[in-house]
Amino acid sequence: MNRRLSPGPPACLLVALIASTAARAGQGNDPDLLALYFEAQMTQAEKLAVVDGHFGVPISGFYTIPPGALGSAGFVQGATALGLPNLQESDAGTGVADPTGTGYTMPVRGTAGYSTELPSGLALAATFNPSLAYTGGTMIGEEAHREGFNVLLAGAMDLTREPRCGRNFEYAGEDPLLAGTMAGNLIAGVQSRHVMSTIKHYALNAQETGRMVLSADIGEASMRQSDLLAFEIGIEIGQPAAVMCSYNRVNSVWACENNFLLNQVLKQDWNYPGWVMSDWGAMHAVTDANVGLDQESGDVIDQLLHGQRFFTNLGAAIAAGTVPQWRLDNMVLRILRSGFASTAYAYPPVITPIDAAADEAVSEKAEEQAAVLLQNTGNLLPLSKSIGRIAVIGGNAINGVITGGGSSQVIPVGGPAPPIDTATGLPHPVVWNPSSPVYALPAEAPGASITYDSGSNTAQAVASAAAADVAIVFVDQPMSEGYDAPDLSLPPDEVTGANQDALVEAVAAANPHTVVVVESGGPVLMPWLGQVAAVLQAWFPGAAGGPAIAHVLFGDVDAAGRLPITFPASTAQLPRPVLDGVDNPNTPFDVNYAIEGAAVGYKWFQRQNYVPLFPFGYGLSYTRFSYSKLRAIGGETINLSFIVTNTGARAGYAVPQAYLALPPGVAEDTIRLIGWKKLLLQPGQSARVTLAADPRLAANFDATAQLWRTIAGPATVRVGASSADLPLSAPVTLTAGTLQP
Ligand code: BGC
Repeated sequence: MNRRLSPGPPACLLVALIASTAARAGQGNDPDLLALYFEAQMTQAEKLAVVDGHFGVPISGFYTIPPGALGSAGFVQGATALGLPNLQESDAGTGVADPTGTGYTMPVRGTAGYSTELPSGLALAATFNPSLAYTGGTMIGEEAHREGFNVLLAGAMDLTREPRCGRNFEYAGEDPLLAGTMAGNLIAGVQSRHVMSTIKHYALNAQETGRMVLSADIGEASMRQSDLLAFEIGIEIGQPAAVMCSYNRVNSVWACENNFLLNQVLKQDWNYPGWVMSDWGAMHAVTDANVGLDQESGDVIDQLLHGQRFFTNLGAAIAAGTVPQWRLDNMVLRILRSGFASTAYAYPPVITPIDAAADEAVSEKAEEQAAVLLQNTGNLLPLSKSIGRIAVIGGNAINGVITGGGSSQVIPVGGPAPPIDTATGLPHPVVWNPSSPVYALPAEAPGASITYDSGSNTAQAVASAAAADVAIVFVDQPMSEGYDAPDLSLPPDEVTGANQDALVEAVAAANPHTVVVVESGGPVLMPWLGQVAAVLQAWFPGAAGGPAIAHVLFGDVDAAGRLPITFPASTAQLPRPVLDGVDNPNTPFDVNYAIEGAAVGYKWFQRQNYVPLFPFGYGLSYTRFSYSKLRAIGGETINLSFIVTNTGARAGYAVPQAYLALPPGVAEDTIRLIGWKKLLLQPGQSARVTLAADPRLAANFDATAQLWRTIAGPATVRVGASSADLPLSAPVTLTAGTLQP
């Protein structure tokens, strides 16, 4: 074989080249053998290049992007002479982000920089529908592929230990089974389109304040039963090409130089075959390679933050014996293996226009199932199609729906809706998807008179509400990477500066038929809850948020979302009522996650006997369900079945959930989600649901013996509509057993 093709084969030849080379070598499709075959032919310089990731965005006067980089988060030079492609990396989990397209400027990628945004990661988790997460993953994976990327930095899923965290919108909630399942399915969907996905940020990157300096402190057993279990499940389901280690320290050791996390847990215990990439600027030494880090990302960010690009010196470190050669070989093998296993090498991206209409439909379906009906007094919703007068107020609802800021920022097709760059005090500008809820309403109620008031003048808003049959108030909470909300209250209106809580109260006082639609990154307080009729939690609703919200409000679809996260009644209920590091975020500090340990979210609320504003798993439907005939069998895990029946008059989505309730004292977390099903049931229809619990959910991690141990003894299986509404229960006996980690 002539291994030096000059200047390098065009993309369309790569498939043929790889296939014929591999076939000649008799390696078939086995990714490990293919990786070995190609790694053996690489020069040292090629190997060093493959582990050294570059930032993909120019920094004026300081940094020029490498030739060939598409201008997104990252670029890694491949051994192209051998047919191994460059890595073109883009954020993130709700769509192909454009880091330069903040709304002031045209994206550097031109119109290709515009992409379709899914509802936020938290919204996807609220669908409780793994197949929707998979489909969403295929949509964003396909767009990435058509925009020239073969790596999508998706799969964000740090467990929500801090409801004020500015990145909760990117994550998948507070429960390890739910978060791992939903993120894992999204990742699998992305990779089905020949685009490698990450899972991130490993691990315990639960708050943004001080993320570059803090140490997340927690015992091994607690971590294995919570955050690490979420990653373990996500990796099993999604088989991501790469794991991104996080900025923070874990038990004092940087996550990207953490032998325990990277070598022991990930690579040894979980047998993870892919590669570990650093978050951008999260490396601390060239010797991080010795404890499991396989690739530096965005190396100029390391230079800016830490004074050097670490893997630029890797060759010298190997020559000096500080890092062994076998490590470099293994780092390369892991990257190559993922390239083959994910099929990303075999099917290089082909720059093609995205199918914006089809992709928007995927996003719309996801939001329709993500919106959670929190309150519906007097069955005000769904609204009648023959309603006369609707007053829509606030939330920039005439222009669009809000999105989350930071590296995951997707720039919508056609550009953001106005306003652009409102000063919020957030580190990233707020971008609005041009999907107007107001303009989606006439299709729902063709005869209605619809008014819109921005809410900037309370008296005017009240007057328009008083003159209408129903008032729909939109409120929002901008959130972003690099930021945590000071508390759980709604901030002043993003656009008008109005006090949103006061606006809702004033409108509700003028019209008893007030509906509040909340577009937030996570939980918010609702001091007006007792005064309004209905509340729809719409999250960050994505590219088709306007029509999706309208469809739910008018009952074209059932209210189908459930909360993937507890809504606290106050910050006093949190394990850390005051956010750690808030006064001095740049000085190293510790966050004591041992307070709640494995009892994250609803598990903490149950342990403390706190009544939240809304519990995990909660969400109303437009119909009603009953649950019966629970049968549960114990042993080293739990098998159960029950019947769920639609007892109402409309078709609707049931999301029955099964929990394991353990006697007090036998575990840190004595209530655990062990399974759920999402079912569309016609009026009167029943379905039998059968579930088998993952045995790890019936076990505690024994850190001394380094294995999972079933919690032998009596326990209870409980089934119902949410973590706090579990009408069925059945005793089970768990028998002693162990599982390897
Ligand atoms: C974020 C990552 C992201 C990376 C590249 C970092 O700031 O934490 O989630 O993938 O930037 O843009």
